[in-house]
Amino acid sequence: RAGFRIPPVLEPFLTDIDPADGAPVNHYLITERVGVENFLPDLPTPVLGYNGIFPGPTISLERGTHAVVTMRNQLSSPQPFLGTPTATSTHLHGSPSLPQFDGYASDVSQPGFRKDYHYPNTHAAVTFWYHDHAVHFTAQNVYSGLAAMYEIHDPAERELLPQGEFDVPLIVNDFMFAADGTEAYDDHSQSGLFGDVLLVNGRPWPVMPVKRRVYRFRCLNASINRSIRPALSTGEPLVIVATDDGLMPRSRPVGSYRHANAERYEFLIDFSQYPAGRRVELLNLSNPHNIDFDGTDKIMAFDVTDEPFEGDGTNRIPDLLVNTPEMELDPAQAVRTRHLRFERQGGDWTINGETWQDVIASNFQHAIANPGLDDIEIWELENKSGGWFHPVHIHLIDFKILSRNGQPPFPWERGPKDVVYLGENETVRLITHFGPHRGRYMIHCHNLPHEDHDMMVQFRVGLQEG
Ligand code: C2O
Ligand code: CU
Repeated sequence: RAGFRIPPVLEPFLTDIDPADGAPVNHYLITERVGVENFLPDLPTPVLGYNGIFPGPTISLERGTHAVVTMRNQLSSPQPFLGTPTATSTHLHGSPSLPQFDGYASDVSQPGFRKDYHYPNTHAAVTFWYHDHAVHFTAQNVYSGLAAMYEIHDPAERELLPQGEFDVPLIVNDFMFAADGTEAYDDHSQSGLFGDVLLVNGRPWPVMPVKRRVYRFRCLNASINRSIRPALSTGEPLVIVATDDGLMPRSRPVGSYRHANAERYEFLIDFSQYPAGRRVELLNLSNPHNIDFDGTDKIMAFDVTDEPFEGDGTNRIPDLLVNTPEMELDPAQAVRTRHLRFERQGGDWTINGETWQDVIASNFQHAIANPGLDDIEIWELENKSGGWFHPVHIHLIDFKILSRNGQPPFPWERGPKDVVYLGENETVRLITHFGPHRGRYMIHCHNLPHEDHDMMVQFRVGLQEG
């Protein structure tokens, strides 16, 4: 089995001070280009990568430090596995970014061009990720490697949860290799691709040596289609401490949990309960509507060592974490309820019968919802497309799940969220506060072939009465 690795943390090429508010600013430069990875021994695989690597470099900074990310598109030559030069649009998934920096799908940069993205990083401690969002090519571009982690730290989180070498990103995605090591991808398929190899941080089923203490894992499912269901081979629980948009009010031990595309879950594992020499597997129990292969029932493994470590206050499983404003939202505060239906109609994936083609046809004016700035609304999402699940992502905002099929949300999803797993025949009610920006933002299925074919629409905040 492959050795474990962690994507490199990107260093800013310049740091200075924002004259407007005195905040520190980190300037980063990223080049989107073709690279080569050795996922399989002796078989090079060409990838599209941020700085040519898969997954891309992690951006990690302190809350309140602004970031300016200069994204250079150098995907200039037609790739044998892509066929066309690749225009890109970068989305910082989870961030309440201004509309012009949100990776709007139709706002692409062509090869040879660059764009500066400004991120204020005012959000509390969180695991975001950045990935390509180019209209109709998101699945292909993300599958080929344009995806990476983005972490914000803050003092409360540093006190509570493991840091440094004990704070570990796990970017999970499935992959299908052709016999020559290149990626197998069928760009014409609307149902997408389920790979038979699970990669973690770009390594197939890796093994990570761990010390006998508590570790924190930031798990992102970056697969384009596959949902996962992580569980430990020892039967011990994973202790969930954070959801997509930050810490949960309290930690939740779960035997396993359903993890859709683009969702982030942070969990703790206490390896001090195992003897040195023990191997602990992180399994992938099966979810409906995936295609399973021989190896897709495992994600990675941990080998417990007797290496000593520096003790600190985070070597424990905390019970109470923090509450965030959206977790306080109450249905009585909502000014309206909207209903969104996800279904298949005449060969397209649709939301209330509409697609991104309707948005394009309206010259980007048409919106499915027009909440006022600072409105609190309840959205009811309904999956009417039997046989499929839809991980639904709403840009700009964080939300709280109120109910699923009239029942309380699952224990692991009781924190701030921006993607919700909408299983077959499920109806989810969520509550959110629209802000802090006015503008047009996307809402879409994060099963990326569904998004590309064309299960994506937009809402507009504060531009028109609701
Ligand atoms: Cu992770 Cu609209 O995207
Ligand atoms: Cu979908």
